[in-house]
Amino acid sequence: MQDFHDKVAVITGGASGVGRSLAFALGKRGAKIAVGDVDSKAMHQVAADLAAEGIEAILEHCDVTSVDSLNHLADVAEQKLGPLDLVFANAGIGAGESGAMWDYSEKDWQWCLNVNVWGVINSIRAFMPRLVATGKEAHFVVTGSGNGAFIVLPDAPIYTASKATVHAITENLHYQCQAGGLPVKVSALFPGPHVVDTGLFNSGRVRPEDLKKDVEGNESGINSVDDMKRMAAEFGIEMQTTHPDEVAAMAVRGLEQDAFWLLETTEDTDAKIRARAEMILNRTLPVPAMVG
Ligand SMILES: NC(=O)c1ccc[n+]([C@@H]2O[C@H](COP(=O)([O-])OP(=O)(O)OC[C@H]3O[C@@H](n4cnc5c(N)ncnc54)[C@H](O)[C@@H]3O)[C@@H](O)[C@H]2O)c1
Repeated sequence: MQDFHDKVAVITGGASGVGRSLAFALGKRGAKIAVGDVDSKAMHQVAADLAAEGIEAILEHCDVTSVDSLNHLADVAEQKLGPLDLVFANAGIGAGESGAMWDYSEKDWQWCLNVNVWGVINSIRAFMPRLVATGKEAHFVVTGSGNGAFIVLPDAPIYTASKATVHAITENLHYQCQAGGLPVKVSALFPGPHVVDTGLFNSGRVRPEDLKKDVEGNESGINSVDDMKRMAAEFGIEMQTTHPDEVAAMAVRGLEQDAFWLLETTEDTDAKIRARAEMILNRTLPVPAMVG
């Protein structure tokens, strides 16, 4: 897709971080934006900021754990902006995990899998039939994570499991669209190459009441990228970060080339992916990779 002018782009989780940056990157190229998010306060701010840039946008309360809520977002976007061209299944959370996984609250597993995995499944069910029905070129982009898709970082088993599942679903969606000869291009977006400075480490702000923790004592103590940097510094590691605008720019460049992999890596991440592949091929004992 070379020309984003007048294209309609739906972005879940667009009130913050990567989704917010995608809204601006596409809006500045002339796309019409529909944001769906659960964070009403942040959405008001995004609405004002998009309007200030002269970007045509609608912002709807949408909870990706509900397919009805996503269908409502799709209906409103179609009615107000026109047939959909791009869908970003981007909403995601970090459950703030730490400690032994068998001590986690069941609600940690439920919340993270509901948003990260069911959010993607629900988005596919709500949007794919509409994209297929238009019969024209369209893009379906799923935000995954290298933590799960490529490597297994220790200490966040729920998040890692959710993103491993998300990648399997995304790659299969690509195969099915390809096999069906559909004009829908599927892409897997990997925010990075470093930890992206977003609200992901403070996801508790949008945690639903009914899934609040019922067992205390497994808080990670990390509520922001700055907390992560401080913790890394204690181990003598200088942690680098990526701005979400850089992720959005990388995604748009990839979409212009109809790329499946919206992925930027460093030598360090390449080495980790290679080491993992070799570990499997050589049947050696897994050793944990570090965030970097
Ligand atoms: N930040 C990173 O380093 C990083 C790395 C790899 C992958 N990701 C992925 O990027 C995506 C975007 O996250 P981010 O880093 O921008 O974090 P973020 O917290 O800044 O943005 C996530 C958005 O999703 C929204 N959201 C949460 N639950 C929702 C729900 N049930 N329904 C609708 N919206 C909901 C939040 O309100 C927020 O606006 C996520 O899928 C995340 O897993 C982030």
